[in-house]
Amino acid sequence: MSRSFLWCFVWLAGCTASKAPELSARVVGHCEYLGPNSELPECKDYLGEWTKAQAEADCATNAGAFTETTACSPAGELGVCLLAKSAAQSRIFIFSSDTSQCGLNRTGCEFFGGGFWEPAAQCGGAADELVVLENPFPMPRRVCRDPKPGEAPGQSANGQICFWEGMHGATEEGREYIDGASCDLAMRQRAYAPAPPNGRWGQPDSRRENPTYLAEETWVKSQVRSQSCTCCHSNAVPSGGAVFGVDREGSFSNQFNDLGLAQAAGWVNSVALGGWPGALNNGFQKSDLEHPDHSIFMSTQPERMKRFFEEELTYRGLSRADFEGKPDGFGPLTEQLNFRPAACEGSEGVSAEGLITWGRGRARYVYVLEASARSPTVPPNLDLPEGTVWRLDVPESGTPVGSGTVRYGVVPEGLSQRSPELGAVMPLVSGRQYYLAVMADVLVPITRCLFTAP
Ligand code: HEC
Repeated sequence: MSRSFLWCFVWLAGCTASKAPELSARVVGHCEYLGPNSELPECKDYLGEWTKAQAEADCATNAGAFTETTACSPAGELGVCLLAKSAAQSRIFIFSSDTSQCGLNRTGCEFFGGGFWEPAAQCGGAADELVVLENPFPMPRRVCRDPKPGEAPGQSANGQICFWEGMHGATEEGREYIDGASCDLAMRQRAYAPAPPNGRWGQPDSRRENPTYLAEETWVKSQVRSQSCTCCHSNAVPSGGAVFGVDREGSFSNQFNDLGLAQAAGWVNSVALGGWPGALNNGFQKSDLEHPDHSIFMSTQPERMKRFFEEELTYRGLSRADFEGKPDGFGPLTEQLNFRPAACEGSEGVSAEGLITWGRGRARYVYVLEASARSPTVPPNLDLPEGTVWRLDVPESGTPVGSGTVRYGVVPEGLSQRSPELGAVMPLVSGRQYYLAVMADVLVPITRCLFTAP
């Protein structure tokens, strides 16, 4: 799922650049390979205290070509990621002419690699900043519709049918989500791309001669039809569904890949995707902080939903152990949810006058949280962690704000305070540590660090 999110980065001049680390002049060698995260050609220099054997072994993990003593000869790179945290330093050039990849690679370098990203001229040179000016991550929207002619009345006031539009919304049980809902929000929260079903699909399957099995499959599909997932997992998309689709002929479960089944069985938890508690979602519930072992599919009967997919995993000869310690498939969603901040550097933090300073980028969300709070990620339930002391939002149509322009507890005109919803903003306690999280957009962190209130 990681690469599919809509990352919209615009690179603008005129911001404060923090300083690049100084790298050792001792070149041990270099490695040319295909970047496992960027999916682009990369070249890595081994500098400082690498031994030749270590550098060679590192190069081999990416199935790269190692050359001793000389450095990379860059041309046409998006930028270079400088890694100087240990004495064995490195410098990774990432090659592409697709400048829409600038932002992703910077985030990859700085937030997942712990490096310093030096953009090449085509990515905005040294004067870049992280800002999302267009099409920011949309928030879910509560909608109500009238029943169609002949359709039973809904459970809300005046017989209306009400639900959340967006990635984890579900309508009333037995109804179809795409009846009267727009898929626009779900599509903008999680991009669609066609992906083929598993190779098992289309092969004969004697289980489908058993009426009990078929009835359960029908129930599972009807539950999926009530949720936004059908926007990309049905004939609503030309491919008939990314990997699996509820409208495809033949077996439903055979369309899944093993990891998808494990997510559906709750063997791999999908907490990081976010979700509503059943009470706010027409009784449909998925894996969340309270019930991590529920399915990735929302259900009015979570245990029954899980059982269907567990049986498929068992049928394929798989067990929980096959998925333990392996990536869960949710990429930055999980990485960002588990992210723990370190101490702020330089002037980042809140000054005695309350002025908030952050790194290179303009913010749509500014959070001050208790030091122990979870890192904020996606709506509806992971974007306002317990322990949020203050959160400032730029509206979807608004202009992101720069570092040093916002004062703690003060809401600039045109912006809104998401937390606290009611009551006064608590003054920061002098000497106490807090977590500053400043985001260019949902899942696009600029600064996440711990500061001590002056
Ligand atoms: C905007 C489109 C979109 C929506 C909406 C969407 N998905 Fe997907 N989903 C995809 C794409 C594309 C893939 C395949 C490639 C990937 O994993 O990135 C996928 C893959 C999956 C897989 C892995 C399947 C496998 O076996 O490999 C699961 C499970 C899944 N989605 C569950 C859901 C659930 C549950 C929902 C609703 C809460 C949902 N999806 C909504 C686009 C979407």
